[in-house]
Amino acid sequence: MLRGGARAMIVSDFVVQADGLCKRYGDACVVDRLSLRIPRGQFCGILGPNGAGKTTTLRMMVGHTRPNAGTLRVLGYPVPGRAREMRAAVGIVSQQDSLDLELTVLENLQIYGRYFGLSAAEVKRRIPRLLQYAALQDKARQRIAQLSGGMKRRLSIARALINRPQLLILDEPTTGLDPHIRQNIWQLLRQLQQDGLTLILTTHYMDEAERLCDRIVLMDHGRILADDTPRALIERHIESHVLEVHGADVANWQATLPDTEGVRSEPLGDSHFYYGDQLQPLVASLDDWPQLRYVLRPANLEDVFLRLTGRDLRDV
Ligand SMILES: Nc1ncnc2c1ncn2[C@@H]1O[C@H](COP(=O)(O)OP(=O)(O)OP(=O)(O)O)[C@@H](O)[C@H]1O
Ligand SMILES: [Mg+2]
Repeated sequence: MLRGGARAMIVSDFVVQADGLCKRYGDACVVDRLSLRIPRGQFCGILGPNGAGKTTTLRMMVGHTRPNAGTLRVLGYPVPGRAREMRAAVGIVSQQDSLDLELTVLENLQIYGRYFGLSAAEVKRRIPRLLQYAALQDKARQRIAQLSGGMKRRLSIARALINRPQLLILDEPTTGLDPHIRQNIWQLLRQLQQDGLTLILTTHYMDEAERLCDRIVLMDHGRILADDTPRALIERHIESHVLEVHGADVANWQATLPDTEGVRSEPLGDSHFYYGDQLQPLVASLDDWPQLRYVLRPANLEDVFLRLTGRDLRDV
């Protein structure tokens, strides 16, 4: 059982301080000399393809996976050495829900609260707020097995707040959720940041990362490829606009284009992506090709992700 909570916290400017962190499984180095500092109050997104090492990194941060090399401090505590004390002040939403399916919503919250050494009375005091966060007030007595996937995700996030953490770590919290629930969760996470929490999130939704995160750490093959604000990443790595053209005739249309200087293009199956600051002439020329579908849009984080990590499909 964990005791002490926030009282036992060691003061530090950085909530996470990782230096040269390595994790190997057999011959594979899945986290490779990763160094990262996350200041208090930051909302940090860790992005990367399947198998990039995101979950392994988060698991090391919470002391669930032991690094093979490097040093790590979370909330000032050396990890894994003092991980139990550190976890008293951390909320964890893991990639897979870990709720007890046979118990009710209420019972899951009660048991989790007791795990942190909170008294039954204190847990009881904290539960209404958590149910409100999860919008599950009228499901309190239902068994988890009777909840939808979205309700379970919401409860997992609310449950992670029971110890009033200073750091909240969320591994793909919104995967598979409908747009309303995602919006609700975004609102909740923003509110938590305003309340002073530090948040670390992994997601495969680039729009989510772009909306929520102050900072994006893009990983691949266990290493950091880029680390900056979403806007700076887009400005640095991608032209201002993207034209996506889809259809079997793309190559024929492209052959008719006069001067495409300053436009970078990349094929993807029978689609083509054109990156540039002046794409209007290309758009105008599409008038004569009604069989081609196209989208003209500002560059976004997904373009950065695709550019820096390559477009190949990964074996996970
Ligand atoms: N317990 C384990 N034993 C062996 N290999 C593992 C173990 N856990 C993870 N791996 C491997 O480590 C690599 C990184 O996995 P990890 O789960 O950290 O990736 P991820 O970035 O979270 O991917 P995803 O986006 O699919 O969740 C993968 O190649 C994975 O197969
Ligand atoms: Mg993962």
